[in-house]
Amino acid sequence: MRVVFLGPPGAGKGTQARILRERFGLDLISTGDILRANCAERTPLGEKAERFMRCGELVPDDLMIAMIERELERKPAGFVMDGFPRTVAQAEALDALLSRLRWPLHAAILFNASRPVLIERLASRWINPRTGRTYNALTNPPRVAGIDDEDGGELVQRDDDRADTVAKRLDVYEAATKPLVEYYRKTGKLVSVDALAPVETVAERIAAAIGAAHA
Ligand code: AP5
Repeated sequence: MRVVFLGPPGAGKGTQARILRERFGLDLISTGDILRANCAERTPLGEKAERFMRCGELVPDDLMIAMIERELERKPAGFVMDGFPRTVAQAEALDALLSRLRWPLHAAILFNASRPVLIERLASRWINPRTGRTYNALTNPPRVAGIDDEDGGELVQRDDDRADTVAKRLDVYEAATKPLVEYYRKTGKLVSVDALAPVETVAERIAAAIGAAHA
């Protein structure tokens, strides 16, 4: 099963991608997580990407496409891609790679949510930087504020969740990524979900859509 997630920052893509990984045993390819790990480890990729991420810009296509090529070389049995593709050039490159591998894509899941909700969700998001586990101070708080329920370590807020950077990321989504909705609609693989619904409801809709696409 091969699925890509499309949708604006804060729509819940990372939350749902982790649920799909647990329930279906899919490989999770999260470009944001991979980039953040590279930034933390000060790798050459991380050093190039950091200045774009800090201000809410997209990392250049050539770096991102090379990253995805490396991820697909691991030959994941099935995957959910969270955060890629984000431009038409990335989508075309992914199509070319998957066609060379003879791995057709089953579905592109589009997360729909309104801008005020996205802004509120990102302002109240807390993450475990070691595992990527995500909480929300309003809708899914940890048992003890600022502490991860599982490993007891500190939770942090992402640098790019500051209000000015969030506004920039939402604008970049509209300009660069939204055209992919039409791109995938034309392939017949687009499935829209209401990302304002509760987490479990969204998960059920995605599971049903993927099941139908995979049948
Ligand atoms: P990335 O890490 O991919 O960030 P993003 O796409 O902006 O998405 P987010 O992680 O902010 O949100 P999400 O949709 O995953 O929401 P979440 O589940 O956390 O990218 C970061 C940066 O890396 C980019 O800006 C760019 O610079 C670079 N980059 C990455 N990929 C790239 C690419 N392909 N090309 C170029 N550059 C790239 O949920 C948000 C909050 O809401 C959480 O608190 C959560 O608990 C809560 N929540 C989730 N679902 C619900 C729900 N149903 N109800 C209530 N609350 C919910």
